[in-house]
Amino acid sequence: MGKMAVKDIDLKDKVVLMRADFNVPLDEELNISDDTRIRETLPTIKYILQKGAKRLILMSHLGRPDGKRVDKYSLKPVAKRLQELLAEPVKMLDDCVGDAVKEGTTQAKEKIILLENLRYHPEEEANDVNFAKEIASLAEVFVNDAFGTAHRAHASTQGVTKFLKSAAGFLLEKEIQYLGNAVQNPQRPFVVILGGAKVSDKIGVIDNLLPKCDAILIGGGMAYTFLKARGKPIGNSKLEKDKVDLAKGILDNATKAKKEIVLPIDHVVVDKVDPAAKAEITGEAIPDGKIAVDIGPKTAALFKEKLKNALTIVWNGPLGIFEMDAFSKGTEEIARFIGTLKTTSIIGGGDTAAAVSKFKLQDKMSHISTGGGASLEFLEGKTLPGIAALTDK
Ligand code: 3PG
Repeated sequence: MGKMAVKDIDLKDKVVLMRADFNVPLDEELNISDDTRIRETLPTIKYILQKGAKRLILMSHLGRPDGKRVDKYSLKPVAKRLQELLAEPVKMLDDCVGDAVKEGTTQAKEKIILLENLRYHPEEEANDVNFAKEIASLAEVFVNDAFGTAHRAHASTQGVTKFLKSAAGFLLEKEIQYLGNAVQNPQRPFVVILGGAKVSDKIGVIDNLLPKCDAILIGGGMAYTFLKARGKPIGNSKLEKDKVDLAKGILDNATKAKKEIVLPIDHVVVDKVDPAAKAEITGEAIPDGKIAVDIGPKTAALFKEKLKNALTIVWNGPLGIFEMDAFSKGTEEIARFIGTLKTTSIIGGGDTAAAVSKFKLQDKMSHISTGGGASLEFLEGKTLPGIAALTDK
């Protein structure tokens, strides 16, 4: 059974409730520092309005206020930004349930309404059926465009679908199309790049993608546990001692399956992780006392060699401490190189998306996921409850 899409639903004169993931980063003054997640929902919002919906009620969470009203997690900055982007008035309500909300949504002269943070109520994350019913009672149709929250079985992502005709928005569909195709039906050669701090965060992805891909290139903090498993000296670099055997098992499985796992062959090292620390390049063996913070130039060249003919690339996790300029070169060089290739390049959300946007290479990639945890779970092959709930019942 397939999912309903927003274009399969008659929206004319309907009150539409849409779940978005407006969980955007805010600075100290509560200004939005990256509005990508808001921009990415605009096609669905505009479509719903163009198709003559009577009213569009938007809802989201922001941060983790733990079921309490916490001012710094208010969606007010999002309402302001949305209004600027849409050049249309957006009415912000003070809550997401209750009589005032009911009245606010029926009496508003504005067509677009944004409800206050769903997670101000513990019932949202508890997937409380009455809470789901109450938010559903505000509208006639439900559209889910919150890919970033699709791995959460919450009232606004799963519960609400029991009470309203429900469909996927364009962003959700685009994410499923790119991430789903990469996993189910990749064009080959299919090369996966994994990085980030911990092996434990990526085990599920390795298990799921190793049988499907042609090679996995590993960098970032997790690479040193793998190098240790290969018996290489790693100095004081990040090590998950309890994962060395697991890393060994993964390397052995890859060899048996004739799949390549490519590890760094040189490194940028420092004595102390500090942006001002003096960095040096070492060979494959990391000297005692040194901490690796980025892949070295030979590794970058090796990774490029492995990537140059790939027709599908999935990348999840930076290859060094990219937040510090001095240790961001490896991640930047590989991102720039991918940007020059004629390939389907799929960038996982979270840190990898932040790295690509730091280097201003967003337009060079085929797809940058708006989901951090959600894209990871998707690449692990898990069923995401927010997506499963949209399948025809
Ligand atoms: C995210 O930023 O990954 C999503 O908005 C989900 O947020 P959560 O991890 O707090 O559920």
